[in-house]
Amino acid sequence: MSTREIPFLDLVTVHRDFREELRSVFETALDTAGFIGGPLVQAFERDFAEFCESKVCVGMASGTDALRLALIAAGVQPGDTVVTVPLTFIATTEAVSQAGARPDFVDIDERTYTMDPEKLRAYLETECTPDPKTGRVVSKRTGRPVTAVIPVHLYGQMAEMDPILELAARYDLIVIEDACQAHGAEYLSKKEDRWRKAGSMGRAAAFSFYPGKNLGACGEAGAVTTDDDELARRCQMLRDHGQSRKYFHDVEGYNGRLDAIQAGLLRVKLRHLAKWNEQRRERARGYDGLFADAQGRVVLPHVPSWSRPVYHLYVVRVADREELQKDLAVAGVGTGIHYPIPLHLAKAYETLGFRPGDFPVAEHAASQVLSLPVFPELSAEQQHRVVTEVLRSMAARERGGLR
Ligand SMILES: Cc1ncc(COP(=O)(O)O)c(C=O)c1O
Repeated sequence: MSTREIPFLDLVTVHRDFREELRSVFETALDTAGFIGGPLVQAFERDFAEFCESKVCVGMASGTDALRLALIAAGVQPGDTVVTVPLTFIATTEAVSQAGARPDFVDIDERTYTMDPEKLRAYLETECTPDPKTGRVVSKRTGRPVTAVIPVHLYGQMAEMDPILELAARYDLIVIEDACQAHGAEYLSKKEDRWRKAGSMGRAAAFSFYPGKNLGACGEAGAVTTDDDELARRCQMLRDHGQSRKYFHDVEGYNGRLDAIQAGLLRVKLRHLAKWNEQRRERARGYDGLFADAQGRVVLPHVPSWSRPVYHLYVVRVADREELQKDLAVAGVGTGIHYPIPLHLAKAYETLGFRPGDFPVAEHAASQVLSLPVFPELSAEQQHRVVTEVLRSMAARERGGLR
């Protein structure tokens, strides 16, 4: 990579300052043969639960496992309908399908890109009917009970949880937070008059420690957080072949355990997470300032007064995204698109029968969002160059348009 190139993400530099500490995790695992479960996993689970202000953390093999097993442990049954948003990574809905349920969607808020509570309300009031026998709501479309909702804390910003939790309580829905992109993000709950951490508000939450996340492993890893001891116990069983103790299988489970070496590495990195999140916020403020004069042409991330995001991604919106992305690539600036196709229109979900126009806000956002480089080591000079290249590309096309 030339020094002029600005990567979308830098997963090499981040580990330089504490390589020895990371190496010592391997030594510990080799010396003790503690590869599966054991003290490395338990210590990380304790520390991560504390970080999330949650009672328990159950380490998992990935964020997808965490979501799937949290749904099952919380009581989602095969055939149920689970509501989420179309603008998310497919793991959110894969977990629903793999739990035997069927995903359904409500649209996102235009500015935060997270679940629009008003759309959830409208869905429950107009697209569902109460089942006189069970009292639960049934989706008119699927004919199946709607039993859970997954708000996704996208790009490092939490969904508007108070109204979502209120609706969930009214309609008896299980809330599982998809916190896979939101380690350390906070939400100001008006109801409770205090800031709440991602992973501490739903019945349970799922985190991913995929390497590029704000807290990333050096491989695959994930976790469930919850205040519910019984749900945590079920997750512990489900991740370990349904065992309540060795070879006593109370239910059929999965192989979804958190690798002990990854847990040890994550515990070392967790000590840096608050600082890294603050550095990401500084980079975001840097971009906000540098783009101030381009507002309107470049739509910047919106942060409501109730949100303290951790900028897993810094996502702007532009009308001519594809051309801009190409120009940036030529200039050596790495970017990403999260996500180009809203899930209701993904080929994988053709059989669900959705059409273009069903979730217009998500569809429009998906056609315009562009993620710029944001990571703790990104320098002010690099940021300056990213913004210069964005503005140069846009100005060139504007000039072209005037001719
Ligand atoms: C929103 C969201 N949900 C779920 C996942 C799944 O996590 P994993 O890749 O660890 O299985 C991810 C991570 O990529 C994600 O971004």
